[in-house]
Amino acid sequence: MLDQIKAKADQYFSEVQAIRHHLHANPELSFQEYNTAKFVAEKLAVLGIPNKTGVAGTGLVALIEGKNPGKRCIALRADMDALPIEEKNDVPYCSKNVGVMHACGHDVHTSCLLGAAHILNDLKGELEGTVKLIFQPGEEKHPGGASLMIKDGALENPKPDAIFALHVFPYLPAGQIGFKAGQYMASADEIYITIHGRGGHAALPQETIDPISIAALLITGLQQVVARKADPLIPSVLTFGKIAGGFATNVIPDKVEILGTFRTVDEQWRYEAHKWIKDFTEQTCAAYGAKVDIEIPVGYPSLFNNPELTAKAQSWGKAYAGDKNVHELIMRMGAEDFSFYTHHVPGCFFRLGTNRNGTEFTTPVHNAHFNIDEEALKTGMGMMAWCAVQGLAANP
Ligand code: NI
Repeated sequence: MLDQIKAKADQYFSEVQAIRHHLHANPELSFQEYNTAKFVAEKLAVLGIPNKTGVAGTGLVALIEGKNPGKRCIALRADMDALPIEEKNDVPYCSKNVGVMHACGHDVHTSCLLGAAHILNDLKGELEGTVKLIFQPGEEKHPGGASLMIKDGALENPKPDAIFALHVFPYLPAGQIGFKAGQYMASADEIYITIHGRGGHAALPQETIDPISIAALLITGLQQVVARKADPLIPSVLTFGKIAGGFATNVIPDKVEILGTFRTVDEQWRYEAHKWIKDFTEQTCAAYGAKVDIEIPVGYPSLFNNPELTAKAQSWGKAYAGDKNVHELIMRMGAEDFSFYTHHVPGCFFRLGTNRNGTEFTTPVHNAHFNIDEEALKTGMGMMAWCAVQGLAANP
């Protein structure tokens, strides 16, 4: 079966490369993946794979039923959205949608999943169960397309026994893959603070409530939540990315806005930290006579790779790509909405190497020059198909 999958990944390479070029040239922003979804539905229809469109708006769910469709179910997920970045690559398949670019490789994820679909559809007579293909919208945007797909029933009928996804990784060469069991990526929650003081003349501070000096206290003081309240063994990051307020050297303004993000990898501490941040902000503002609005909308949870599943996937990866091409990864404080799935079913999110010999295609994601060595498409589609086959064959 492994040799068959590898041969098919080679055979379908040019087909998947053409799919990727089409998707790359026609990127769409989060939750606006209308043409992308139509294109994916057409490709599935050509293969004769039944699918449901309009899941969570522009998402799709497709089923490939094997010889014992009710036995087990393995889900494979791809995200389809692009970013508001103006592409700077000089390639024939450069983005035709001005100001929008597949700079996070979601075109690669979608084309690899369509390639895996082709391979698995060929082999369905030998599959012990059902493969569920999940093409989701809006990975890059709050509240995360994954959360909406789950709400819309993507993990029901049938409920998967496990779910897999890959993500491009410009730090490894094409042909290589990376895994990290357990906690892999952080939760990410946005913080919006508006301090309402009382403006006035800079020379008469006693007649004002100065929101700028209060903002300074908050920005430094809130770091105590990370420095003194967080368990040192639990990674936590609090970063303020925007502060806005004021007009001139001699005017105290009425208000200051502060925007930030809080990230950690422990779900209980995550919500405790929110409370510390809110309490410290409200009490500090109150102490100086200011009013404050603080919002911490709940974002993506931390991404937990099921340890047993990830250990298995890693061994399947070694069989597929060779021992020396499979790497242990370290935890990252970035966030990824695949995490929502991992809180419902055992999940494994692995990395697909996309550079060439460590020298070309090394530009990080979310950059206007990001691109990949397309040899990675073979490993991507093949590994996704192989994970499905092995996941279905595993003992329940
Ligand atoms: Ni991404």
